[in-house]
Amino acid sequence: MNVDHKVQTLDEFTIQQMRDFPHATGELSSLLRDIGLAAKRVNVEVNKAGLVDILGDAGTVNVQGEDVKKLDIYANNQFMGVLKHGISCGGIASEELDDFFPFDDPVSNNSKYVCLFDPLDGSGNIDTNVSIGTIFSVYRRVTPKGAPVQEIDFLQPGRDQVAAGYIVYGSSTMLVYATRRGVNGFTLDPSIGEFTMSHPTIRTPEFGRIYSVNHGNFFQYEEPVKRYITNCQKKDKTNGGPYTQRYIGSMVADVHRNLIKGGIFMYPGTLEKPKGKLRLLYECNPCAFILEVAGGKATDGKQRILDVQPTELHQRSPLFIGSKGMMEELEGCF
Ligand code: AHG
Ligand code: MN
Ligand code: MN
Repeated sequence: MNVDHKVQTLDEFTIQQMRDFPHATGELSSLLRDIGLAAKRVNVEVNKAGLVDILGDAGTVNVQGEDVKKLDIYANNQFMGVLKHGISCGGIASEELDDFFPFDDPVSNNSKYVCLFDPLDGSGNIDTNVSIGTIFSVYRRVTPKGAPVQEIDFLQPGRDQVAAGYIVYGSSTMLVYATRRGVNGFTLDPSIGEFTMSHPTIRTPEFGRIYSVNHGNFFQYEEPVKRYITNCQKKDKTNGGPYTQRYIGSMVADVHRNLIKGGIFMYPGTLEKPKGKLRLLYECNPCAFILEVAGGKATDGKQRILDVQPTELHQRSPLFIGSKGMMEELEGCF
């Protein structure tokens, strides 16, 4: 037996990281552990989505006479539940909730962080067995401890994130998370039920050959975006064009593939929806944080995503995100 081969679990890794900071309270490690637990529960349901009646519309009743919750509401409740019962999170905001939700109990009111998430990204893909995911974002609360968290704790610019990450429920289930110190990827080992380190210190390639965009909207995009997409299709590129087009329709899976292989993902504004479809707080900011820590870039076409001051919880934003070199090519088209 090779005793030197060390499999590092997510929990071991976060505790190890904490040891490097003698004054750390362990709250962030504990929050990541809570998220890992909820992710495992959601993973179980995602895996059997084809077998059970969990795809039905919320509010309908299944054969056992129980209320059927859509998988995205189920996921929302799992993440909300673990964070409420944990010791690190004062409250959450979620794509599935109209308003932010302060936990408002003595432990939560004294904890350091707030968490925002898109419980199931790509939920339109669930019933066709295509990869989907969860995206999360963590900020230090800005209001004083001792009272319920408030809306301003959630309306912070993305550059102030303490950590951000996502889980992809795909051919394997992976959790990727970033702090300022780096991006690390963990793959769920179903035989032991643990996320184990599989992608240490992820850096995204400076150039890739993949561009991801909904081509169906092409004629609705503004001129610079059309110009860039057309450039992606040209053969005379010095860096290996024409590029390959890949678009899953689950942003988290598209962004994950491009992070690993190098590429650019775009959800531009359209004539009908000038701010596009994606939400700044639940989708754009966490992915922008991860990509920047990994060496990539993210903008809304005008400014760095992480510098946008949010004004409302559910605000939308165009998103261009990916390898630095490709992002610079795009910026050259504006
Ligand atoms: P959600 O399932 O959380 O509502 O997000 C779906 C998003 C995103 O994941 C994906 O990239 C995009 O919608 C796809 O939209 P189009 O079908 O308009 O391209
Ligand atoms: Mn989403
Ligand atoms: Mn969603």
